[in-house]
Amino acid sequence: MVTTNKTFPESASPKTILVTGASGQLGVELVYNLRQKYGSNQVLATDIGENTLLKEKGPFEWLDVLDKKRLSELISHYQIVEIYHLAAILSANGEKNISLAWRLNMNGLLNVLETARELQVQRVFWPSTIAVFGPDAPRKNTPQDVPLHPTTVYGISKVAGEHWCAYYNRRFGVDVRSIRYPGLIGYRSQPGGGTTDYAVDLFYSAIKGKPFVSPVDRNTRLPMMYMDDAVKAAYDIMNADSDQIRIRTGYNVGAMSFTPKELADAVKQIIPSFEIQYVPDERDQIAANWPDSLDDSAAREDWGWNPKFGLEFMVSDIIANLSDVFSSSREN
Ligand SMILES: NC(=O)c1ccc[n+]([C@@H]2O[C@H](COP(=O)([O-])OP(=O)(O)OC[C@H]3O[C@@H](n4cnc5c(N)ncnc54)[C@H](O)[C@@H]3O)[C@@H](O)[C@H]2O)c1
Repeated sequence: MVTTNKTFPESASPKTILVTGASGQLGVELVYNLRQKYGSNQVLATDIGENTLLKEKGPFEWLDVLDKKRLSELISHYQIVEIYHLAAILSANGEKNISLAWRLNMNGLLNVLETARELQVQRVFWPSTIAVFGPDAPRKNTPQDVPLHPTTVYGISKVAGEHWCAYYNRRFGVDVRSIRYPGLIGYRSQPGGGTTDYAVDLFYSAIKGKPFVSPVDRNTRLPMMYMDDAVKAAYDIMNADSDQIRIRTGYNVGAMSFTPKELADAVKQIIPSFEIQYVPDERDQIAANWPDSLDDSAAREDWGWNPKFGLEFMVSDIIANLSDVFSSSREN
C-alpha cells in the first residue's frame, strides 16, 4: 500500500515526474531544478536514504528500485509520465561489492524499463558514464562509437544497461534516453563513491582550510562536468523530440577536462593557502583506463548539446557557495 504524501495534489498534472536515487549527488540537484521548472508537487523524489531538504520541499517516498511492485504502485498512484532513474552504485564503491553493484545497477534498470513498458510511462532518463570505455578506446576526444571494454563492474553494468535501453526502445518502443556523463562536480551533497569524486572532496577540504590528499595522480586528466551542465544535459535530452534521439544506447557528452594539479592550481588562485598531496590509490588505476576528453558531436548535432561552464567559473562558483554554507552553519 502506498502512503500518500500530503503535499502532493490529488489530481496529478500530465507532467508528473519520478526520480529514483534522488538523495544522491545528481538527484538532489536534478530534483531541485525539476521542481523549479514544473512545480514542487510535480516531482516525486524517491530513495532508500532520506534527504531532509528534498522531503521538506516536495513529495518524497521510500523506494528500493529492486522492489518492482512498489515501483509500479508509485507510478500508478502518482500518475507518473516521466522517470529519471538515477539509483546506482558507482565505480569505486562497486569494486568493493561487485555482486551488489551488478544486482542494483542491472535489476534496478530492468525493473524501471519493464514497468515503464507495462504502465506506458512516456519517457525514461537513465545516465550512463565514461566508465563504459576501456584501455583500448582512444583516450583523447574518445569517439561515440568505439569498442566498449570496461574494467570495472560499474562499467560492465553500464555497457549492458545501454544495450538494454536500446533493446527496450527497439522491441517495445520505450522512449528511454541516455547520456554518458563524465565526472560530475557539485557542492549541494557529498559524493557517493565515484572515481572522479576526488574533485568534489578537494573543494570540501579547501573550504575547511584542510590539506587534501588526492587519490588520483597529479597528471591524470579526466573529463568533468559542472552539475548545472549535468542537469541541463538531462533536461535537454528529455525534452528533445523523439526523432532527434538517433542513438538509443548512450550519447557522449563533454564539458571540460582537467588534472588534479590543474584543479588545485585553480583553487589556489582563490584560496592561496590550499595544500595538496598526491597519493594515488586504486581510483587512479580506474581513471587510467578512462578517456581524458570526449567527442560529443553526435549529442550536439542530434539534440543541441551545448555545455555552458568551464573550470574557472566552476571553481569560483563552488567556493563562493560552499563558503556561504560553511559560514552560516558556523553561525547557527
Ligand atoms: N556522479 C558522477 O560523477 C556520475 C558520472 C556518470 C554517471 N553517473 C550516474 O548518475 C547516477 C547518479 O549518480 P550520483 O553521483 O548521484 O550517485 P550517488 O551515489 O550520489 O547517489 C545514488 C543514490 O542511489 C541511492 N540508492 C542506492 N541503492 C538504492 C536502491 N536499492 N534503491 C533506490 N535508491 C538506491 C542511494 O541512496 C543514493 O542516494 C548514477 O546512475 C550514476 O551511474 C554519475
